[in-house]
Amino acid sequence: MNILTLETTCDETAAAIITDRLEAAASVVASQDALHRRFGGVVPEIASRAHLERILPVIDEVLHRAGLSLDEIDAVAVANTPGLAGSLLVGLVAAKTLCLVKGIPLVAVNHLQAHIYACRLAAETDVFPCVGLIVSGGHTSLYHCDDPLSFELLGSTIDDAAGEAFDKVATMLGLPYPGGPAIQRAAESGNPRAYRFPRPLLDDEDRLDFSFSGLKTAVRYQIVGPGKTDFAKIKLDRRQVADLAAGFQEAVVDCLLGKAMLALKQTGRKILCVGGGVAANARLRKRLADEAQQRNIQLHIAPLQLCTDNAVMGAIAVERLRAGLTENLDLDISPGVVR
Ligand code: KG4
Ligand code: ZN
Repeated sequence: MNILTLETTCDETAAAIITDRLEAAASVVASQDALHRRFGGVVPEIASRAHLERILPVIDEVLHRAGLSLDEIDAVAVANTPGLAGSLLVGLVAAKTLCLVKGIPLVAVNHLQAHIYACRLAAETDVFPCVGLIVSGGHTSLYHCDDPLSFELLGSTIDDAAGEAFDKVATMLGLPYPGGPAIQRAAESGNPRAYRFPRPLLDDEDRLDFSFSGLKTAVRYQIVGPGKTDFAKIKLDRRQVADLAAGFQEAVVDCLLGKAMLALKQTGRKILCVGGGVAANARLRKRLADEAQQRNIQLHIAPLQLCTDNAVMGAIAVERLRAGLTENLDLDISPGVVR
């Protein structure tokens, strides 16, 4: 059985062909980073228009790479939640059209569950029940995942997502979009202790929530001075940029690590799965690996190519198909977080 999976929740137009044995026969990701770079973040209208131009060529390309024709596709899966409304619509309309024309089943994918499922794919064995940590440009949340399809929200950011904070701080430091990889690179030569930034909510043992907005402001005040916003006259040298990047990154990593460990303690689970764009961060991966080893936690972090948005993680559709969960053609998008 071959499933065509589509992913257009944010700013990547992606398609993959997944078999019912969870193998990825082909995968294509058309990144829009270059289109959004000069704005320092994703512009929703630009994203949806680019999806519209790219979705059909991306589907053609993935079929070509898999050596399959449309007639050999048995189901279409699409991420319909959460994400940007215009972007989600493009993927959903494409998926529904293919299902209607070919008379094949439609499967709905929750983008956040798919990020965690990337860990299951890479592990090639069951990773459930586990605690799931999703750290991306739009979300930072902890889930208790009993099985691939049941996700109970334990906590989430009360303001910015971690990736969003990376992107905004990168802009302050004069680094390019997307900010995560740029900050990681700059931080390599920086001293994480040169500046001491806050770790919001980290000491609150009763909460599994995150907050990155104050941390972002702390970086801004460090650069321009308290209460000021004007970056125009500020010229940071390479050392300052490296130290600020390293200090900020370490603060984010401390918060993510601390709350993930608290979630494991509270739930009594021994398996941690980590996915989403920020899970590509080398410092986070190293600190998680060290901590997991010390605490005897089984750690699964999505492989780098499956951290940022892709359609391979839409393989979670196989679980839904096995459970008999297909959709009618009146399926709608749901831009907000579905818990
Ligand atoms: O999961 P993703 O591709 O899209 C969303 O669903 O949001 O995540 C994109 C986010 C961006 O904010 C980007 O800066 C961040 O992931 N990111 C990183 C790294 N690579 C990507 N953040 C920190 N370190 C990285 N190496
Ligand atoms: Zn994502």
